[in-house]
Amino acid sequence: MATHFVTSAAPGALPLVGHALPLMRRPVEFLDSLPAYGDLVEIRIGPTRAYVPCHPELLRQVLMEDRVFDKGGALFDRLRDIVGNGLGSCPHRDHRRQRRLLQPAFHRARLQQYAEVMEQESTALTESWHAGQVVDAFPVLYGFTLRTAVRTLFTAHVDDDAVDGIQRSFDTALGGLFQRMFLPRAWQRLPLPANRRYEQALEHLHGTVDRIIADYRRGDQDHGDLLSKLVSARDEGGGAGLTDEEVHDQVITMLFGGSETVAANLTWTLYLLSKHPEAARQVQEETDAVLGGRPAGWSDLPELPFTNRMITESLRLYPPAWLYTRITASRVELAGRLLEPGTTLVISPPVVHRQAAVHADPTGFTPDRWLPDRTADLPRGSFATFGAGARKCIGDAYALAEATLALATIANRWQVECAPGTDVRPAPLATVMHPRRLLLRLVPRTTKAVRRTAQRSLS
Ligand code: HEM
Repeated sequence: MATHFVTSAAPGALPLVGHALPLMRRPVEFLDSLPAYGDLVEIRIGPTRAYVPCHPELLRQVLMEDRVFDKGGALFDRLRDIVGNGLGSCPHRDHRRQRRLLQPAFHRARLQQYAEVMEQESTALTESWHAGQVVDAFPVLYGFTLRTAVRTLFTAHVDDDAVDGIQRSFDTALGGLFQRMFLPRAWQRLPLPANRRYEQALEHLHGTVDRIIADYRRGDQDHGDLLSKLVSARDEGGGAGLTDEEVHDQVITMLFGGSETVAANLTWTLYLLSKHPEAARQVQEETDAVLGGRPAGWSDLPELPFTNRMITESLRLYPPAWLYTRITASRVELAGRLLEPGTTLVISPPVVHRQAAVHADPTGFTPDRWLPDRTADLPRGSFATFGAGARKCIGDAYALAEATLALATIANRWQVECAPGTDVRPAPLATVMHPRRLLLRLVPRTTKAVRRTAQRSLS
């Protein structure tokens, strides 16, 4: 029998700004409230009417039918200022060619090479910490993931100053992105300090990436990194491959897609670790048995199933890509409603991930819900952290490897405790959902403690 879907409008939209205020100020509560109104719920982003699929089946339909529900709408229109026409933002007509050219850069053999960089950077991170230190988790982990992304993209070609410069430019450019989504285009052309800072950040970002690519193109050997794959990618039949501009857009796309997202996931996971002593004990037991004090590497991944489940559960509760858009390319029926071409859809995984009708105890932190024998009955579309279909995240395996390796290395050496000043409400207007400020006090785990748990779990 066909499912009967309920569609309705969320109350409380204000003239001009629509639901912008609750979306900016308390996004999680606002999104959690939507399923109570129906399976497809109308909201307003500024003056624009948009539909949020709250039922997993509808969410999946929108993600899978990427020809009809194309990239576009308030978020992608603004995001293109930063990432151009790269793989994540290009319309359907350009997508299949780009994906074919980029996919080899994410094959298993390549991931194994990238894992060496992940291991080195996790080691450098945990060795830079000292007992009793309080770290502001998100910026520190963002530095870690951006350095890792830069080094997997360009191997040794970029120094730390350039990485810091890229991080600052991204901070400013992405910090302004959601605000721009809610404001009219004309506002962006006003000579305001915020607009000037945004323009300068973009100029710096594009300039740095151009310089790096130009340096890189001077040598023509395969460095075993992502950029080598991009530069040498060829269209079918030996065609031209990616132009300079396309390589540029893909590099920025990968830096954008591959750094803030993983940093947000690791930040939430460390927060959950600090709040759930039983999960902390389990992750220590696992990492002590497998690592015993050395950093985690590629071959350890199959031996770290609990660490991996923690990451997945954290991705369910706090999906970093928490809100993005689609635009209908033609007339289409969704949940029994006829949508005209040009209609905006808002995709928000937390809406589905935190629903009692989809996941038992939806707001509880239960890594073991991801045990293989417990996931068989989950409805399709119930876990959409990486999207779905042809536009599904190309870096999902990269992200899971990086997050699992980093978490294992951290948890094996350090215990983390929330310090005063922590505020884990999601940062307002952030492109990627992360806590406003997670301050973590670092307590070293002694070699004795590591050995003790390792022995216990062996006996
Ligand atoms: C926890 C980490 C990550 C999350 C939550 C995440 C999430 C997502 C989501 C939801 C999409 C689909 C967006 C849409 O349908 O409009 C996506 C696409 C994409 N992601 Fe990720 N991502 C992560 C890590 C990465 C990494 C590590 C990379 C690269 C190194 C990456 C690169 C991309 C690219 C290039 C696309 C576009 C794919 C396409 O359209 O074919 N992402 N990501």
